[in-house]
Amino acid sequence: MITPFSFTENHFRILDQRRLPGEEVWLECTTPEMVAEAIRSLAVRGAPAIGIAAAYGLVLASPYGRDELMRASDILVRARPTAVNLEWAVRRVLTAVSLAGDTDLLSIVKQEAQAIWEEEKLANEAMADRGASLFVAGKTCSVLTHCNAGALATGGIGTALGVIRKLHEQGKLAMVYMDETRPLLQGARITAYELHQDMIPCTLITDSMAGWLMKLGRIDAVLVGADRIARNLDAANKIGTYALAVLARAHGIPFYVVAPRSTFDTQTSSGEAIPIEERDTSEVLAFLGSRIAPPVSAFNPAFDVTPQELITAIITEDEILSGHGRDPSGTA
Ligand code: MRU
Repeated sequence: MITPFSFTENHFRILDQRRLPGEEVWLECTTPEMVAEAIRSLAVRGAPAIGIAAAYGLVLASPYGRDELMRASDILVRARPTAVNLEWAVRRVLTAVSLAGDTDLLSIVKQEAQAIWEEEKLANEAMADRGASLFVAGKTCSVLTHCNAGALATGGIGTALGVIRKLHEQGKLAMVYMDETRPLLQGARITAYELHQDMIPCTLITDSMAGWLMKLGRIDAVLVGADRIARNLDAANKIGTYALAVLARAHGIPFYVVAPRSTFDTQTSSGEAIPIEERDTSEVLAFLGSRIAPPVSAFNPAFDVTPQELITAIITEDEILSGHGRDPSGTA
């Protein structure tokens, strides 16, 4: 399974996802600033993956003492605002440090970073099993996914792509449709790369084709990841997810969010309070580095929020959440 980073003999390397699928380039990160920049620039991306990367950013700071660790924490949590996993992982490492008292800082931080990564991998496996159990045996289905919620976004088998991998393994999958995911093409570049490598049947579409495919009856379910889930279960994910949820509801198609507990934000009451990252407008005005529009203004929110009433169920590692008496299998 492809991995977004590696940590061996105190070396932290990040696979530069901006270069995929053309080239596999590994960035050697030696400082927390380099990790924060890799997160900001999307060399490493995906909610659980940026949490794990931030934890390793703290490993790089810890030989220099507690003050340096605190300074690195501030830099890392500010790298991107929407995925709560980033803040969650940094807080978790700092809590482990404060509980450990005067023990060797480097070994505590390293141990906690490793534990976070291991737990995310296990959570991915558990979500895959739970999610696949919602799909009936003896029948194949075609699913639609958006952005990349796979190995490269999590460090495990993926959230939405973990369920999809499991469906494939269980002989329940006919086809995965992947939205290209404008403006940065995480679907076309990264999801397509992962599924192609694993020889899972997949078809790439542009974002604007999803509704028509649903109308044609070619989509049985939508499976996406999340970057932050509020207390009322509104879920932020890559821009375009909300539109898919509206389309799925209009066509009577189940819409599943697959996310680990590290993506749940109990401090935020509803989606309205989720901070939405706005990225540089050049990402919209240009395509693969070439300008495509005249000098007009542009708007580039990186995420949107799907209200809980449009979500059939949220699949987590320990339970399937389906509010308001909804049948999680999406058949009712
Ligand atoms: O901007 P990105 O590529 O970090 O956005 C990632 C997503 O929106 C994913 O769907 C989300 O993080 C879930 S990852 C398992």
